[in-house]
Amino acid sequence: MEKLKIMGGQPLNGTISISGAKNAALPLLAATLLTDQPVALGNVPALADIDSMVSLLTELGAEIEPVKTLSTMAHGPDIGRCYEITAATLSGSEATYDLVRKMRASVLVLGPLLARTGAARVSLPGGCAIGNRPVDLHVKGLAALGAEVTLAGGYIEARAPACGYLTGGRVVFPLVSVGATENIMMAATLARGQTTMVNAAREPEIVDLANCLRAMGAQVSGDGTDTIIIDGVEQLHGCSHQVIADRIETGTFAIAAALTGGTLTLAGGRADLIETVIDLLRQAGVAIDVGHQGLTVSAPAGGLQGVDVMTEPYPGFPTDLQAQIMVLMAVANGAAMVTETIFENRFMHVPELARMGANINVHQSSAMVRGVPQLTGAQVMATDLRASVSLVLAGLVAGGETEINRVYHLDRGYECLVEKLRAVGADIARHSGGDDADNGGPIACPHH
Ligand code: UD1
Repeated sequence: MEKLKIMGGQPLNGTISISGAKNAALPLLAATLLTDQPVALGNVPALADIDSMVSLLTELGAEIEPVKTLSTMAHGPDIGRCYEITAATLSGSEATYDLVRKMRASVLVLGPLLARTGAARVSLPGGCAIGNRPVDLHVKGLAALGAEVTLAGGYIEARAPACGYLTGGRVVFPLVSVGATENIMMAATLARGQTTMVNAAREPEIVDLANCLRAMGAQVSGDGTDTIIIDGVEQLHGCSHQVIADRIETGTFAIAAALTGGTLTLAGGRADLIETVIDLLRQAGVAIDVGHQGLTVSAPAGGLQGVDVMTEPYPGFPTDLQAQIMVLMAVANGAAMVTETIFENRFMHVPELARMGANINVHQSSAMVRGVPQLTGAQVMATDLRASVSLVLAGLVAGGETEINRVYHLDRGYECLVEKLRAVGADIARHSGGDDADNGGPIACPHH
């Protein structure tokens, strides 16, 4: 029902507090199913995807209490929520199609449910806007731990073997998958014996999950490298854990500062989690200072320079910043080749950016971006979360007014986006009447 209107051309200046990472919080919430004791999670961003995961946990029988004090919260008082989750007894072991269809990360309950209860039934996610996104690696990994997995009626049905528990095994991933690494990690914590995961994902969100699992009593080592070793334990216990800073949000706002000609301090943003992104922005001419409190990013006086970008698993350039960096290249001097190696069909933002005057030609998995002096505002529509935010960035730098439909994509992944941008000088507002009907409506920013 809502759309965003942006009047471009305002430089952004000031400080933005970086939220907790959606992609860390989702597996952490799923991990609370591994124990019957309370787990407190702080710095959880207020997002529609988090609400979906909370609903799923509730449906499975977990009790979830929002906790008021965020005493150990890392960055700033205005963002983040804290939940205490107790999955004392589970009343279900199924994630339905309705939930998984809305949020693919629901599949992350598969490993924890199977390990804890010996059975799980999770809908296959089906297609999504950025490609096919299969779950075969999740299934193969669980089978390597002894699970009997069948696919029937659109559902993955997994059972522990007759002995009632999973057993440690060797899982070799043919390609790097964040979600499959997380699912198998969680399942292996309660398996009998040792699990070795080879070619595991190295994303910071994996390390955050491992830190939380260790605090719950799990024996995990090697996280952050491509080989993770887990010695199963009989049971896990409660803990308290703070979600790490969102590196994708940090990168998105860094690009916003560079694009609009301002200076933004990203409080709580962690430079060590986006080194490849910082290197690339510096090559493009962007000035970045790294301090104790976060990063300060300023646009180059001499204009932006086009630089080639290729997305890769961490520590490479993240696919979740590909659409945003493409906007920067669209107004940089010279040309840049942007190559997407993680997801097919993740150039859905290109035709919309072209409507705003960008000069981009796509050839299979590469986009040739030839910088233009100025984008112009237009009515545009987004198809996924990161594509949506790239249109916001384009709107911030374009001449005139940009109207973005399907705002619900942004509510899935950017906490208080409009409020944060307005506070640093952006001319951006929500209006009713956009094309996002039947998606549950917008999520309210809890602090504004
Ligand atoms: C996670 C992130 C998402 C990010 C992506 C890549 C969350 C909630 N989401 O998604 O924002 O864009 O990592 O960094 O953390 N694949 C298979 N078989 C599988 C699983 C994956 O072939 O069983 C393929 C995918 O189609 C894709 C590649 O592996 O081409 C990487 O996907 P994966 O890392 O699993 O992404 P997600 O965990 O879904």
